[in-house]
Amino acid sequence: MTSTYASASIIVVGSANQDYIVRVSTPPGLGETVLAKNLLKQPGGKGANQAVAAARLRGNVSFIASVGDDADGAFLLRELRSEGVDTTNVEIINRGRTGIALVSVYDSGENSITVVPGTNFALTVERVEQTILRLAQGKDNAVMVVQAELLTGIIETSILAAEKSGARSILNLAPYQPLRKEIIALCDPLVVNEVEASSLVGWPVFNAATAAQAIEQIRRFTRSVVITIGPEGASWADRQSSGHVPAPFVEEVVDTTGAGDAFVGALATFLAKGATLEEAVKVGVQAGTFAVRKPGAQSSYPTLSDLGLDETVAVAGPAKAMAKIQPLHELDRDLREK
Ligand code: RIB
Repeated sequence: MTSTYASASIIVVGSANQDYIVRVSTPPGLGETVLAKNLLKQPGGKGANQAVAAARLRGNVSFIASVGDDADGAFLLRELRSEGVDTTNVEIINRGRTGIALVSVYDSGENSITVVPGTNFALTVERVEQTILRLAQGKDNAVMVVQAELLTGIIETSILAAEKSGARSILNLAPYQPLRKEIIALCDPLVVNEVEASSLVGWPVFNAATAAQAIEQIRRFTRSVVITIGPEGASWADRQSSGHVPAPFVEEVVDTTGAGDAFVGALATFLAKGATLEEAVKVGVQAGTFAVRKPGAQSSYPTLSDLGLDETVAVAGPAKAMAKIQPLHELDRDLREK
């Protein structure tokens, strides 16, 4: 699958995991054993998910990562390639164990995740720096996306290399880990969910009102910031302005796994197309909301047409693309009437 229109390069530095997803009614308590209703084995990892989410929306994506020389690594690479993600810079580590994620999904659709990093921790500072500089060199409006299932040094190097090469850095600080102020200062935007935002500001962020307060605090330290708030949508701010984008209502939340990654992938694609932060957040909210209606991460991500967009609209520019996005409840109604 190749993109048929010009879009700035998106460089994703991140994790690739084999997800083992079990459905259980509620989280087991300490010392408790629960029986799962089923097990799904799916491609995952926040980095790979974001790369796929961006590519589904016809972003021009290169992925920088490491996988093991095992069956899981081969499977993840096949999936990424079939989505049109450039995997030339995914290193296969000799005798390495590909990252694994143990994901529990509850009746509410919410999840909890434990990651075994494996070869995600085999990325080296030298390789990441050289590859970003090479990929971003001479490209207008390149966008670099990195998340935090990686060693701190890799996250910092990615952002510094992007800065050096003139690329825009999106940092999805998931899971939360403390980073130096000078690194946070370069993010455009820093993207966190309520849990990560709470760790960042040191008090509970749990809805749109508290997210707005957290945004006011965080925006002084970075170029721009987005807080995703699940069913309440997302709040954003840059140096000049701020706003909130509500999420469309979803009748049945099936599985929230990777919904945040769908948001970040869509955000990256539309920022790479030249959208404003507000416009890109709107598409991100639509993509994240779409993703909660199906099981798994990558398997639940929308294409342009799923969001009521087409390629010509995407070429014409984000402002027009935005106008054509239908709220999900309208898409549902259209499907019912067909
Ligand atoms: O964000 C969802 C992802 O987190 C899963 O795919 C899992 O691999 C973990 O990285």
